[in-house]
Amino acid sequence: MSCLDNPLLQVGVYGSKFLQTLTTKLTEDGKYFDIRIKNRVNKMVTDLESLLFLRNLVVSSRRHVIVETGSHLGIGTAVLYEAMSSTPSFSTESHRLLTVEKDRRRKRDIIAHLKIVGADDSEVQIVFSDSTKIDWKRHLGDLKVDLVFLDCYGRYEAYLRIEPYLSEKAIVVVHDWFLWDFATDFETSVRNGILVGPIVIATSRGLGVYQKAHKQVAMYETK
Ligand SMILES: C[S@@+](CC[C@H](N)C(=O)[O-])C[C@H]1O[C@@H](n2cnc3c(N)ncnc32)[C@H](O)[C@@H]1O
Repeated sequence: MSCLDNPLLQVGVYGSKFLQTLTTKLTEDGKYFDIRIKNRVNKMVTDLESLLFLRNLVVSSRRHVIVETGSHLGIGTAVLYEAMSSTPSFSTESHRLLTVEKDRRRKRDIIAHLKIVGADDSEVQIVFSDSTKIDWKRHLGDLKVDLVFLDCYGRYEAYLRIEPYLSEKAIVVVHDWFLWDFATDFETSVRNGILVGPIVIATSRGLGVYQKAHKQVAMYETK
């Protein structure tokens, strides 16, 4: 069953102003149909259920610095930007979104999709590089990453590259959880006490969600 055939998800999808605009826009220029087909054939564009989950995660957890590895057409990038910029404390000084894509030919599509959410490439940093080899110090400086959405080839290698730059309560989201055995890759970081998880979100292609391990703060005095 596709996301749009599911009444519960329809409420979510159409209840969100942005996803409504996005799906309307994509339907108008005929691309939305392609995306649905692609979701089943070449699986390049993130499925709508995963986009919806990501959007809600970013809004509810109020992430400030977000990284996506693997931009493709910039659909996920646009959703992440819209979510980040709709949090009450959003400002271009305190919030950053970086997306990494190794294929420079994607630039036009990424910019076109960012335009739908009112952003341009001065608000979102599009980095053309290999996420498994990127020099994050150069792009992040002293910034720490609050959420990373891993959607490129070599997701664990891309994760290892960014691991030293994760903030204390960073969230790591791995797309296409049901398509490959990412759990085995990430097990090393869990065993080493760096990540906790995963929580698996049953979107059509699956999301694996980890959190950076950190000391729990007691909410109540025990005496
Ligand atoms: C599954 S698509 C990304 C979909 C996108 N995140 C979205 O939400 O629609 C994967 C993209 O990652 C790019 N890619 C693959 N390996 C990469 C790597 N190591 N570094 C950067 N980009 C990579 C591919 O060129 C492709 O455009």
